[in-house]
Amino acid sequence: MISTDFAPNESLADAWLSFKLLFQPWRWQKGKEIEQAKKNLLKQFPNQFLISFFLTGRAALNTILKSLNLSEGSEVIVQAFTCEAVILPIFANQLKPVYVDIEKQTYSMNPIDLEKKITSKAKVLILQHSFGMMPIHRDRIFSLVKKHHLLLIEDIAHGYSKKLISNFKFQISNSLFLMSFGRSKALSSVFGGAIITNNQALINKLSNQEALLPLPSMFFIFRLLLYKPISLLIKSTYDLYIGKMLHKFVNWFNLLVPEITLKEKAGEYDQILNKAYPNALAILINQQLARFEQVQQNRARISAFYSNFQFPVSKLVSSHQQLISNLPLLRYPVLVNNRDLILKKAAKNNIFLGKWYDQVVAPKSLNLEKVGYKQGSCTVAEEVCKKIINLPTNISLREAKICVLSFLRSR
Ligand SMILES: Cc1ncc(COP(=O)(O)O)c(C=O)c1O
Repeated sequence: MISTDFAPNESLADAWLSFKLLFQPWRWQKGKEIEQAKKNLLKQFPNQFLISFFLTGRAALNTILKSLNLSEGSEVIVQAFTCEAVILPIFANQLKPVYVDIEKQTYSMNPIDLEKKITSKAKVLILQHSFGMMPIHRDRIFSLVKKHHLLLIEDIAHGYSKKLISNFKFQISNSLFLMSFGRSKALSSVFGGAIITNNQALINKLSNQEALLPLPSMFFIFRLLLYKPISLLIKSTYDLYIGKMLHKFVNWFNLLVPEITLKEKAGEYDQILNKAYPNALAILINQQLARFEQVQQNRARISAFYSNFQFPVSKLVSSHQQLISNLPLLRYPVLVNNRDLILKKAAKNNIFLGKWYDQVVAPKSLNLEKVGYKQGSCTVAEEVCKKIINLPTNISLREAKICVLSFLRSR
């Protein structure tokens, strides 16, 4: 099995660590590893000070928005082509999302559309680094953020490259970084989120906020710890049918905690994920941080392979090859005309390619009216959502070649 979505980030060592933790419940909720994880993460962000951890990126964003005490109906500018985890905390704080269209090079915010949509009610702008790419118009967006006195949240939930860190001098002062350690992200502790900033006013507002949240229950943590060993077992035996059966069994008995809850699927913020970060997950993230550099190098190598590959013009709309070559992308995006066919053919060979995002606010089951999106208001994002396929990047070169072959075989 090769999969862009399912456990893209797990190694045997991760599964083994998580398995051992299942037998050490005294380490699950509290422990010294959380502070250690913060220190380890800070090494990646040399000139930042505050790091707060949460059970999810959603909880981190909710905490930021809550701490701002904005008046009801204040606007939060976001890009279309995002995930509901970004939008639901906006509604939870009685704020209003304003959707801005994207550009097709880095799938991030288009400053021309942004300029049209900023009003005096806008207070916050969330700048998404899609697939871990630095937004191509980042500096133009920074200028608009400054001009309109907005708080900038740089959403690096998908990951980030060294270029971002080495470009800190371009950071604006009223800003912070939002991270996610969800299972499908560049660093995974199954669930997890973080806020990072060096702005003193924000530090004053945000420090100790994480301590106000309750920890998840022991049973919830137990289910989280099952994820890494079970998903690895499923993946490694999927082609032998054992994994397929195990996957069905796990779903029947609801053994694993899903990435998105039923309440969220119905378009409502779910307090069940608005919790503090438990120590067990910090132990997992420390291990991921230790081999992050190595994984990023592999992601860059596989992205470069896709970039250099001559996809047949008949199948491809665009792959923006020069721009994203050699970047450690979380997923490698390509735009195609016959997406469903390609995905279906690949799935027959147990190759499951991704489609982030197949709706301007994913997942597809979400009612867009409920999240305040007006059809036709971001036409580029709508078009991209119909055509995008994500190829996996944290795989071997041999597997990348198999993915590309399956792509070629589809007619
Ligand atoms: C772009 C983006 N930002 C933020 C988040 C929130 O992360 P989490 O799943 O940890 O709540 C997600 C989740 O998928 C995301 O895709």
